[in-house]
Amino acid sequence: MSTEKILVLDFGGQYKELIARAVRGLSVYSEIRGGDISAAEVKKLSPIGIILTGGPNSVYASTAPLCDPEIFTLGIPVLGICYGMQMMCHVLGGEVKAGARGEYGRVLVTPVPESGYAPFLSLMSHTDAVAVLPQGFTATAHTENCIAACKNAEKKLYGVQFHPESEHTEGGIEHIRHFLYNICNTKGDYKLDDYLEKQVAAIREKAGNEKILLGLSGGVDSSVCAALLSRAVPQQLVCIFVDHGFMRQNEGDEIEKAFANQNLQLIRVNAADRFLAKMKGVTEPEKKRKIIGEEFIRVFEEEAAKLGEIPFLAQGTIYPDIVESGGTHGATIKSHHNVGGLPENLAFAEIIEPLSGLFKDEVRVLGEKLGLPAALVHRQPFPGPGLAIRIMGEVTAEKLETLRASDAILREELDNAGIELNQYFTVLTDTFSVGVKGDYRTYDRVLAIRAVITSDFMTCECAQLPYEILLKLSSRLTSEISSVSRVVYDITSKPPATVEWE
Ligand code: XMP
Repeated sequence: MSTEKILVLDFGGQYKELIARAVRGLSVYSEIRGGDISAAEVKKLSPIGIILTGGPNSVYASTAPLCDPEIFTLGIPVLGICYGMQMMCHVLGGEVKAGARGEYGRVLVTPVPESGYAPFLSLMSHTDAVAVLPQGFTATAHTENCIAACKNAEKKLYGVQFHPESEHTEGGIEHIRHFLYNICNTKGDYKLDDYLEKQVAAIREKAGNEKILLGLSGGVDSSVCAALLSRAVPQQLVCIFVDHGFMRQNEGDEIEKAFANQNLQLIRVNAADRFLAKMKGVTEPEKKRKIIGEEFIRVFEEEAAKLGEIPFLAQGTIYPDIVESGGTHGATIKSHHNVGGLPENLAFAEIIEPLSGLFKDEVRVLGEKLGLPAALVHRQPFPGPGLAIRIMGEVTAEKLETLRASDAILREELDNAGIELNQYFTVLTDTFSVGVKGDYRTYDRVLAIRAVITSDFMTCECAQLPYEILLKLSSRLTSEISSVSRVVYDITSKPPATVEWE
């Protein structure tokens, strides 16, 4: 089992997860820590290398985060990226100057001849730059405006002004690989199987003979969490799946089926009527979300109470959830709350979060290793309130039927065409329009198609679906669903729109 790790010290850069993920992609375990970590703590963690991230500050700003200077004396290789390079040079006695000309976007980097590298385009995003290197450092690459890379080989300290973690830097990953394999001398033996084994052992030790309760939504994270827990403590895991009735066609049954042969007790609570009753007369999006969230908690609590005392609650929290909420890494078991809108004050002795060290794509790979169906492990995101926030206005049983049927047609057509997108669905608007079917005038609903491309869901672009697919969809949706008179395609990006309509 690999014990090597890289510490990624965060100075506020937006790419910290990208860096940590790139390191793991190169078979080396990585953890993100705050940039204010002390050298003593770093020593205790005994990383084989340290990467300092970029950040929005100037080293001269009064609030600029500087690292513990002792970190540079530990003999552990360091790679400073962007602000990380400037801060390292500043702390070690070099000089950083506000750039007369900042560099933003793809910029040509010219390595010194003896480095053996050819010139390459790199992603730059900086105003300040290192003007005078600290003693013992030499420049290893330049742009027209700045020192693009530097090193103190004797002390194993390296800096790059560009972003090697970005796909916009040519050969960027090779720079990270070089640092890991040639400077840190990693064995590169980090494997997800190790993570799995470690978690299985930890869960067994923690749970003893006690039961663990998990809220299973059918989403990727809670599903993989269920599969992992059932691998560790079969017969001790109880999953509650609250079917609020706002799932897609056959989805509830598919989730139940996917877990039928896993070693766990699955309680499916069919609460559709109860949720629908709560939706009566509610038209405001935020109200819908709030009511559904609260009702979800009520149902979960009621079902949990029926089971008697269960000391452990498991949640499918993943690493980005922890990093984004400012937590530190590592604990398999934490009081952080995430999945399914469960309340903080549930009466459990402890929370178990066995996926809290993994990135989303690692969770998917683990899910496949644990035998979950690929369709479940690679499913597109689906919001907690489900189809209720894809129906404008009041949610009724009839509208749900219409939306479900239209969503199924959309999925079928895109599957048939082999088109893979990050997210796609239909939206039932509250608008009626005049149409003609056969010899009759109709006055029916307008249905919208939403299909987006995104890498992080913080922003998105409309997918440019081929016209023939859109025309086929329009034809099928209006002919197979009698209450739809017209189909429109939502071409808005996010921002200014959001992915969902409500
Ligand atoms: P928006 O609409 O905010 O959506 O652009 C971004 C991504 O988040 C999903 N989403 C949710 N996921 N609970 C969730 O678990 C929610 O309440 C929720 N609302 C939106 C949305 O589907 C998209 O993938």
